Amino acid sequence: MKIAILPGDGIGPEIIDQAVKVLNVLGESFELETAPVGGAGYAAHGHPLPENTLALAKAADAVLFGAVGDYQYDKLERALRPEQAILGLRKQLGLFGNLRPAILYPELAGASTLKPEVVSGLDILIVRELTGDIYFGQPRGVRECPDGPFQGQREGYDTMRYAEGEIRRIAHVAFQAAQKRGKRLTSVDKANVLETFQFWKDIVTDVHQEYPDVALEHMYVDNAAMQLVRAPKKFDVIVTGNMFGDILSDCAAMLTGSIGMLPSASLDASNKGLYEPSHGSAPDIAGKGIANPLATILSAAMMLRYTFDKTEQADRIETAVKSVLAQGLRTADIFEPGTTRVGTEEMGNAVVKALAA
Ligand code: IPM
Ligand code: MG
Repeated sequence: MKIAILPGDGIGPEIIDQAVKVLNVLGESFELETAPVGGAGYAAHGHPLPENTLALAKAADAVLFGAVGDYQYDKLERALRPEQAILGLRKQLGLFGNLRPAILYPELAGASTLKPEVVSGLDILIVRELTGDIYFGQPRGVRECPDGPFQGQREGYDTMRYAEGEIRRIAHVAFQAAQKRGKRLTSVDKANVLETFQFWKDIVTDVHQEYPDVALEHMYVDNAAMQLVRAPKKFDVIVTGNMFGDILSDCAAMLTGSIGMLPSASLDASNKGLYEPSHGSAPDIAGKGIANPLATILSAAMMLRYTFDKTEQADRIETAVKSVLAQGLRTADIFEPGTTRVGTEEMGNAVVKALAA
């Protein structure tokens, strides 16, 4: 069980430390190796995804990733920006299936900006396609506008595209995930405007024939955004493309009140995966010891579940997290009066202690 540990930037190293601590007390024999990525990769080797880091990630069975991005790297040319590290890893490792659960722990119902009755008990799963769409489509760039009223001016352009096989494989991931949950799948598209997503809808409909036990509905992305804040509990599993999935998953994450609680998995065809918290590098609070490590710890649990098939260990971690919440321990992002405010390290230690109990 070889795991590449890529802490990255901002709060990345602090939260990864806590997850590593948790992995180390499980009594399993993991082989952990750390490498710089993102801004840290650029600082160390002049590239956000240094060759050695990529080689390590490729050789490992799983990658535990912190977060990338920091103000000081914002002015670099795009190819050297920290975000390129995560985009490069997804593409190079073929991690096309992104699972982003949004679960509202009952103890945190008050942390949501939505009324408790709208969100309490929320448990939805967003399946986001991660290596296609307008994120990676070619051509892209800035060119001279070829026609129309702005002819001759500069224009920025990108290409939205999905190959049939790309849609089929993510549809299978989503239908199979739905089979293991509430057996309902919502495919989100923009078929009323975009050719790519009319095609998406047709292919998902076709794949559905193999999963008659799952109820499939189609929803336009604008409506899906609205329904997510209106009646989020109506969803079970949502499947969508890379860009819509980026947007909707942040929205879904915030329904739960704290993006600091949400893990994610990005899987290839053989369940090798990269696991990362759904939140970013939060450079504004980096180094202060106040970041919430639970999303990263829960990402490690997803790693045990999906890549290593260690269901029992994954359950142990999730139970330990629930227990520290039940004890009233809260990092600043989920703090409410009447609970106990703790820092990153104390929270990690509390999970370790709960694991031993
Ligand atoms: C995410 C992030 C990334 C994305 C960025 C950092 C490139 O927003 O994982 O959702 O857009 O996919
Ligand atoms: Mg995003």
